[in-house]
Amino acid sequence: MQAQTVSQKMKEAKDFLPINGTDYIEFYVGNAKQAAHFYKTAFGFQSLAYAGPETGVRDRASYVLKQGKIRLVLTTPLNSANPITEHIAKHGDGVKVLALWVEDAYKAYEETTARGGRSYMEPITLTDEHGEVRMAGIYTYGETVHMFVERKNYNGIFMPGYKEWKSSYNPTDAGLLYVDHCVGNVGWNRMNPTIQWYEDVMGFVNILSFDDKQINTEYSALMSKVMSNGNGYVKFPINEPAEGKKKSQIEEYLDFYEGEGVQHIAVATNDIVKTVRELKSRGVEFLDAPPQAYYDDLFNRVGKIDEDVAPLQELGILVDCDEEGYLLQLFTKPVEDRPTLFFEIIQRKGAQSFGAGNFKALFESIEKEQAKRGNL
Ligand code: FE2
Repeated sequence: MQAQTVSQKMKEAKDFLPINGTDYIEFYVGNAKQAAHFYKTAFGFQSLAYAGPETGVRDRASYVLKQGKIRLVLTTPLNSANPITEHIAKHGDGVKVLALWVEDAYKAYEETTARGGRSYMEPITLTDEHGEVRMAGIYTYGETVHMFVERKNYNGIFMPGYKEWKSSYNPTDAGLLYVDHCVGNVGWNRMNPTIQWYEDVMGFVNILSFDDKQINTEYSALMSKVMSNGNGYVKFPINEPAEGKKKSQIEEYLDFYEGEGVQHIAVATNDIVKTVRELKSRGVEFLDAPPQAYYDDLFNRVGKIDEDVAPLQELGILVDCDEEGYLLQLFTKPVEDRPTLFFEIIQRKGAQSFGAGNFKALFESIEKEQAKRGNL
């Protein structure tokens, strides 16, 4: 029997909670005002909304940024008693919430908690003059949370409690369109229970799996499985460290994040050369380009592609293919001092996979950075 393609596998998901996509990604950060400036200046996000003391919120400030369909919420606590302060002390800056845009937040909460999901926030209805947003949340790996957001009866800027954030500083965007996938790192022997959790609690399906024989370098290894909802709008690859001669990059993450959490957010573009050139010019740091041999061998590995190889090589952009097409991708260095969260820029040309063919080249590049930090 011929192996199923990723697109065929997605159809096997039990879609009891229809998900329309990623609603927002919330970061807990030490200084949201400065982080917002970074994401505007470096990544081309636009000012959208704000909540804080000026809007009646006493214990935190949140800045909402938008680019394409991507919404980032950057939240900082305003006092030491706030539990967010503890979160940041332990994990550093990182992703707290992967919010999912659903048709019915109350039902999503009931269905998932009935299937074993652990409650983070019971359903609430927030209202203002623009309508209502209904929300609820459950925990996933580590202290990370999935919020269910229902906004079909809301036409405000973001959600009740936020005001429009008008800024006189508005750098142009960088062509980022939507969240393609968000990857979680989990601890030793924790990948399979996490996969099972996404199947049982969320009705997702495992569309791809890689073991440590496939993802390894001379020094370190990891295992990865990709979970998707039925329409493929939400994809969560899960990584677990594997034994190698030296420390796995996943272990380095777990040590520095002090637990499980979001490893990278992949954002899509329609023109990766233009986007990466723009981001680089604004100071975003990317992993080093793979060696010349990677590009010499490119056509043998992925076949014919529409792009010229010279700019790909100049920018260090990686290419991989599957039975449905090819994809171009590039990874930033971590965006914090702790070697934890980073971003991926991805352009899909038919391929529905995640760049497994690049793992070796990619990991050798990551290991170079790990070694510089003394963590390999
Ligand atoms: Fe990725």
